[in-house]
Parts: sequence; C-alpha cells; structure tokens
Amino acid sequence: MKVTVLGAAGGIGQPLSLLLKLGLPAGSELNLYDVNPSTPGVAVDLSHIPSAVKTNGFAADDLKKSLEGADIVVIPAGVPRKPGMTRDDLFNINAGIIHDLITAVSESCPNACVAVITNPVNTTVAIAKKVLSSAGVYNPKKLFGVTNLDVIRSKTFIGEILNEDPSNISVDVIGGHSGVTILPLLSQVKGLSLSDDEKKELINRIQNAGTEVVEAKAGAGSATLSMAQAGFGFIEALVKGLSGDPQRVCAYIDSTNDKTEFFAKPIMVGAEGVQEELSYGDLDAIEQAAFEELIPALESNIQKGNEFSK
Ligand code: LMR
Repeated sequence: MKVTVLGAAGGIGQPLSLLLKLGLPAGSELNLYDVNPSTPGVAVDLSHIPSAVKTNGFAADDLKKSLEGADIVVIPAGVPRKPGMTRDDLFNINAGIIHDLITAVSESCPNACVAVITNPVNTTVAIAKKVLSSAGVYNPKKLFGVTNLDVIRSKTFIGEILNEDPSNISVDVIGGHSGVTILPLLSQVKGLSLSDDEKKELINRIQNAGTEVVEAKAGAGSATLSMAQAGFGFIEALVKGLSGDPQRVCAYIDSTNDKTEFFAKPIMVGAEGVQEELSYGDLDAIEQAAFEELIPALESNIQKGNEFSK
C-alpha cells in the first residue's frame, strides 16, 4: 500500500505520519509532502524507527513526485483556526490549497482514494469533487471527508459518562464536520440513558469540541494529536478495506440517498473505496430536530464549495 500525506510537516501531518509509519502494513510505502523545506528531514527522522514501512520526503516543487503511484492520499494541509474563528473562516486560504493539491492528485494519481482533513471539510470535499470532475477522473467511491474525530470524541465523552473504557463504546456521527452539522446518534448508544437536557448538553459538547481545543490552545492552533489519531483510524480502516477486508467507518461522502450532496454516515469501505452506504437507523425527537437544523447549514457549506473557482 502506498500512502501520501500532503501537509506532512504540520501540526497534524507529523503525528499522523508517525502513526502511519508505525501502523501501516509491512511493505507499505509512506510519502511525506509539505511546502515546508524541512519535510525530507521529517521523513529521515521517521525512517530511523524500526518498522517495515519505507518513508520518503518531498518538499516544495516535488508535489507531483510525492503522489506518483499513491493508493491513498491523506490531506491535513492548510491553516488552523484561532480563537473566535469558525471552520468556515478558513475557507479563503484553505480552499485554494485544496484546489491546488487536488489538481496535482488528478494528474499524478487519479485512481487514488483521497481523504480530506483540511477545514472546512464540509466545503473542501465539494471543491475536491469539482476539481476531480473537471479533470474527468472523479470517482465518488474514492473521495472522503475525515469525520472520525467527531466519532472518537463522542466515544471518549460517552465513556466518561458511563465510566467505561471509551474504546468499547460504539457510536455513529452523521451530517458534517462543523458546529450544528455534527450529529452524534446518542439514542443508539447501548447503556446510555440521558434526560433530554443531558442529551442536548452532550450533543452540544461534541459539536463544539473542536472549539474547546482551539480555545485551550489560545491562538496556537486547533486539534492536532487527536486529529492525527482520528485520521490514522480512518486510513487504517481504508487500507484494510482496499486490501479485501471490508470495514465499517463513519465518513463524509458523496452520498446517493441523503438530503444533501455530501453527508457523513456509517459506510463499509472495501476494495474499491465506498462499498456500501449503511442505514443510520431511527432518530429520536431531539436528534430529528437537530437533523432538520443541520440540513440547510450543510447545504450552504456545500454550495460554497461548488461555487468556488480559482
Ligand atoms: C476539530 O474538530 O478539532 C478540527 O476540525 C479543527 C477545528 O478547527 O476545530
């Protein structure tokens, strides 16, 4: 398996690359690319860790080289939020970055699976689709927005409430990856019994967990380590799926049967990317109200991506 990380020298890119170096199957190749000239050094640093994953570093003008032969491209590149900003406020800078990186993907590895972490994910994934489509290489089964951070946060917070090991908690998060578009399906979590107020409070905490980190870091950026772990978890599932061992994950995809063009939901990833879109079951009254609220917000995020041109 060949995986390229775009934005590999950044706050998410470095720990994500470390996790991939340690966790990709033996014989895999890991290409690190960033505009930062230190990127080949990051690859050398990782290369001293004894794992059977080969690391290569690329910087600046070597973007296309870093993508040659990639099966999976994961993109944490871009600027993070500062306190007081929404993910949408990153659009002006990150939209152009995604546009350029996806253009290179469309030229160098048009058949690769692409996993977008760059915010605002609800919008950058739509931009990626547009770029790939205009290059004539778009495959809806191979484009993903990484929303696994919402899932791992939900597991953690629910584990705290239930006083249980969070890794044993199973929860789906649907919608998108910002504010009200994040909808954790708490009514389906085994053993979790909350009052309406407690449920609303927990939904609110999960929706604002990214902001909790941004404020705690006080101007030094947003979630990097938990984002790297979430990104790794998604890529690990995708690698297994592509290798013939289908996996269940939640991700933001070009959905065939939802109210918006893109929607985060449980899916099976298999040998060709999205193998199956799974049902997320019935919503309770609180979730249904949150669902009604998220649809127009998500639609407008997607429309912004569809209208973007460079
Ligand atoms: C997160 O959820 O932590 C990331 O999307 C980063 C952010 O800006 O919140």
